[in-house]
Amino acid sequence: MTETVALNNGRLMPLVGLGTSRAGDDDSLARLVATAVEAGYRLIDTAAVYGNEAGVGRGIKDARVAREDLFVTTKVWNDAHGRDATLAAFEASLERLGLDYVDLYLVHWPVPSKDRYVETWQALEEIAARGQAKSIGVSNFQIGHLERLAKETGTVPAVNQIELHPYLTQVALRGHDAVNGIVTQAWSPLDKARGLMNDATLTELAGRYERSIAQIVLRWHVQSGIAIIPKTSTPARLAENIALFDFTLAEDDMALIDALNADLRHGPDPDVHA
Ligand SMILES: NC(=O)c1ccc[n+]([C@@H]2O[C@H](COP(=O)([O-])OP(=O)(O)OC[C@H]3O[C@@H](n4cnc5c(N)ncnc54)[C@H](OP(=O)(O)O)[C@@H]3O)[C@@H](O)[C@H]2O)c1
Repeated sequence: MTETVALNNGRLMPLVGLGTSRAGDDDSLARLVATAVEAGYRLIDTAAVYGNEAGVGRGIKDARVAREDLFVTTKVWNDAHGRDATLAAFEASLERLGLDYVDLYLVHWPVPSKDRYVETWQALEEIAARGQAKSIGVSNFQIGHLERLAKETGTVPAVNQIELHPYLTQVALRGHDAVNGIVTQAWSPLDKARGLMNDATLTELAGRYERSIAQIVLRWHVQSGIAIIPKTSTPARLAENIALFDFTLAEDDMALIDALNADLRHGPDPDVHA
């Protein structure tokens, strides 16, 4: 089972959740979600743009855990910025999920070219005030976007979900999040299992700690206070990716992983992504 982190509204969020982007069709995803809950996952991360909210919703219904013990995140896509479009997109997400509330609703990208993320955020504030999203947050927001929300709106995001892994450690943005009471949550925490899986430092640590490279990387995240949503559609990896709370990396070894940073961003640049 995963540990939790307190959000700035007092609610608890599991530190480890399941990412579901490109995790299969609705049938296989429904099975995967139910299996993940069985394996101890309590947070499921989806988004309107993944086209899989119906599969996630079915998996949640099939899981043998009460709804209030699960934490469901979804996100408003870039084509629905602006108050009315966001409120409509949220209703459509709830409908597809088959739920009457989500635990966390995120603005997926700031889309600065549209310059409507402040208004979009205010729509999320309305949704939160109605209790239909227990917490609200953002994704891919840079310091400048967060500063603008702070200046022009009344609510601090509970979460900022950003691309983050040992090759892109995002120290400045994490620092800004922390000072402002925003929990940083890493997407692509394994950098989609690319070069990290052959990294010499991580291979050495995996051998020494007798853990997989994925577990070393994911432990580095949670030990750094970063929430994570690793994606796997391989049932055997579900247990592996959540078995992170029975070992500790020594400070020197944490520093070795910190030093792997290369500011290597594989996803889009949030300052220009539309
Ligand atoms: N907010 C955003 O803009 C944004 C953007 C991208 C993603 N996300 C969210 O973040 C989640 C995770 O990110 P991601 O899917 O990009 O990348 P990721 O979680 O870093 O990596 C997923 C890849 O790693 C493999 N993998 C998982 N566990 C493994 C293990 N123990 N050993 C070896 N390989 C392993 C998976 O393969 P198998 O599936 O074949 O096991 C898959 O190919 C997404 O699913 C989505 O929910 C959000």
